[in-house]
Amino acid sequence: MRRCHRLRVVRLLKPPESARIWPNQSTPPQRSTVSQLAPLQSRLPAVGTTIFTVMSALAQEHRAVNLGQGFPDFGCDPSLLEGVTRAMHAGLNQYPPMTGVAALREAMADKVEALYGRRYDPATEITVTAGATQAILTVILAVVHPGDEVIVLEPCYDSYIPNIELAGGRVVRVPLVPGTFEPDFDRIAAALSPRTRAIIINSPHNPSGTTWSEAQMQRLEALLAPTNTLLISDEVYEHMVYDGQAHQSASRFAGLAERSFVVSSFGKTYHVTGWKVGTVMAPAALTAEFRKVHQFNVFTVNTPMQHALAEYLKRPEPYVNLPAFYQAKRDRFRTGLAHTRFKLLPCPGTYFQCVSYADISDLGEDAFCRWLTTEVGVAAIPLSAFYADGFDQGIVRFCFAKQDATLDKALERLAQI
Ligand SMILES: Cc1ncc(COP(=O)(O)O)c(C=O)c1O
Repeated sequence: MRRCHRLRVVRLLKPPESARIWPNQSTPPQRSTVSQLAPLQSRLPAVGTTIFTVMSALAQEHRAVNLGQGFPDFGCDPSLLEGVTRAMHAGLNQYPPMTGVAALREAMADKVEALYGRRYDPATEITVTAGATQAILTVILAVVHPGDEVIVLEPCYDSYIPNIELAGGRVVRVPLVPGTFEPDFDRIAAALSPRTRAIIINSPHNPSGTTWSEAQMQRLEALLAPTNTLLISDEVYEHMVYDGQAHQSASRFAGLAERSFVVSSFGKTYHVTGWKVGTVMAPAALTAEFRKVHQFNVFTVNTPMQHALAEYLKRPEPYVNLPAFYQAKRDRFRTGLAHTRFKLLPCPGTYFQCVSYADISDLGEDAFCRWLTTEVGVAAIPLSAFYADGFDQGIVRFCFAKQDATLDKALERLAQI
């Protein structure tokens, strides 16, 4: 198979008859086809194909309901699309300012002030990014020097650890308490050292769905107060917090805000994960360093989307109503799962529902997810994918950002186990 592919490439590279210029030779000069390039030394040798890609391919192959990857299977508000079209037709298609479209930065400043009580200066403290993933990598490249330590709380989003490694930093992994996924402050305190450059937190939390309380944020604030440790606060699910709770943004806490890069994403909030637009908010001195790297990393983020988002952000209803929208989906899904043999873990935030399958199988998480996809027809993600050492606790993650019909179909299948 491989050889056939190579032959085809060689044939394609051969110039057409008319282009051959070997006037006095009966045979063309032979060029070596063996590459002289030494194999690349990987910057990220431990990274392979992600489980998300593997499970999605498996889901497609077996026509499974894909509750694995974390994105909606429904569209966004049509008025947001109209905003993009309007911006494009108005000629807003060239590079915007490196820091982002001013109207979007201003709209974010207003929103964050209204919600969390802190005013970030749009000129010096807010930068528009190509989604949260780029934002987090750029923060890390901007602040982490080789040998610096960065604390990550596992399970964690899969980009954090490779990002730290790319910067030459040392990853210090601290587990969230298995089962409850609460932060363990004694272990965080023990992990802090004079070399700790940053700690990354994520609330609401992917994959566990837990949220940090006000008391927990205050505890972190007190813990970091005597240190030189920066906080990277990944808040991409900030508008998916349920049961009347409030999101505890790092920007609400003066002692945290002064050392924080607060990362947000419009993709999650407005059902447009493929747009990849987000923001980083940080005090001016931190933002200045962030922008130095951002400038030579992406430079700018697509213009018409930024204008459309700036316009749309003026209306609070879409994000104010988002908790009720997703809470209804969460409740529908949980009610259905209660009639299965899965054990539900609490889900106070995000669009992820974790379940234990201890009563169903003693397979490892990876094998269980493959079985679930191929034999039951529902794709999920093993929690072990969010641990560097593949820690396996018999828990898998479903994504309920799906149409009700999709959820019902999955529930019907899960109920048969
Ligand atoms: C915790 C967390 N952070 C960051 C991201 C990436 O967000 P974006 O799509 O804006 O890059 C995700 C996406 O799944 C996520 O779950």
